[in-house]
Amino acid sequence: MFAILSDIHSNLEALTAVLEDIEKRGIKTIYCLGDVIGYGANPKECLDLIIEKVSWCVLGNHDYAVFYEPTNFNYGAEQASFWTREVLEAERQRDVSDRRWRFLGELPMRQSLDVDVGNSKVIMEFVHASPRRPINEYIFPDDVYTNPAKVRLLFERVKHICFVGHTHMPGVFLDEPDFYLPSELDGVYPILDDEKAIINIGSVGQPRDKDNRASYAYVNKNKVHFVRVKYDLDTTIKKIHAVDRLDNFHAERLRDGR
Ligand SMILES: [Fe+2]
Repeated sequence: MFAILSDIHSNLEALTAVLEDIEKRGIKTIYCLGDVIGYGANPKECLDLIIEKVSWCVLGNHDYAVFYEPTNFNYGAEQASFWTREVLEAERQRDVSDRRWRFLGELPMRQSLDVDVGNSKVIMEFVHASPRRPINEYIFPDDVYTNPAKVRLLFERVKHICFVGHTHMPGVFLDEPDFYLPSELDGVYPILDDEKAIINIGSVGQPRDKDNRASYAYVNKNKVHFVRVKYDLDTTIKKIHAVDRLDNFHAERLRDGR
């Protein structure tokens, strides 16, 4: 059994609530799909928790933006990256600072696992964004209708199961192509031997599917469970408001999960 988190975006309250939920379920192994930082007010704390708790993490576009440069970011996101970089650079404890920068600088673009799901083995791949452009291609639910060729091409790069984040919208893409919201699956997707799937696990710290609760997933045998967790978003919003250089929009949108 393992949990998968993505898109924490420096939201400490959401991350803490999710980690507590994972612990309550007795899940010991956690993987992360990137965007640990960006947007929110607690980059150091979120990085430290992720470094401590996860087995591995892959590179997200916001992690890339802070370590290298923001590419194709809007003004608010770009400012958040520069502010985050300054906060990390201001760390006085050398070993703590080194550990955070080393973690960001060594994030791989992909991970894959051969997972025993009961009576068969399943190849699972993990990227931040998409199987062909791992850190910055968006796969939106609407693509299934507006750009089915794109979704079919993406599936050519998927061996069996590919977990993604990036859009902050949880759900399951099938290669027909088709898309299912977690609610349409009663919160559980059963992995089948002969069905490819791209599974978006949603966002811990910036959900955008009109549900303001933190989103993550866990895998138990052949079942992928989608989970939502309430957290103290008033505190998160106040903290973002308190930092001049963080766009208040990134706080306000947390209330409606948009
Ligand atoms: Fe993100």
